[in-house]
Amino acid sequence: MTRVLNIIIAAALWTAAGTGQAIDRGDPTRGGELADAQCMECHSADAVERNPEWPRLKGQHAEYLLHSLRQYKSGHREDPVMSGQVADLSLQDKRDLASWFSRQEGELYTPRRP
Ligand code: HEC
Repeated sequence: MTRVLNIIIAAALWTAAGTGQAIDRGDPTRGGELADAQCMECHSADAVERNPEWPRLKGQHAEYLLHSLRQYKSGHREDPVMSGQVADLSLQDKRDLASWFSRQEGELYTPRRP
């Protein structure tokens, strides 16, 4: 069910991106530092190979990543691991993280809008 919802949300966000809304307002440099400190234990390429329950974040749309992080924080998306991870993140932290992850090359590829 969560997976189906994610696909619906991703599709909605993708459509929104097509309308030209400004979305990525993060600082990717700062996001990379935060990710190294707090996220890569589970979301690095090696980690996601080891544990299929840890999703690949690199290359996903920034707006989808930000949306997910905000949903974990608000409780609209429930996961015992991730709700703990986002508890102390500010909105700007989440924007920065989403910006950095979306700019990394991974198996998931997001074409850049011109
Ligand atoms: C201890 C392991 C662990 C750490 C550390 C961790 N995560 Fe996660 N993350 C997970 C798991 C497990 C899931 C899948 C949860 C679910 O099913 O909703 C997840 C899911 C996510 C998702 C949703 C991905 C998707 O495709 O919907 C995002 C975004 C995310 N994490 C970002 C982060 C960020 C940013 C950090 C660092 C601040 C972080 N995670 C730290 C384990 C971790």
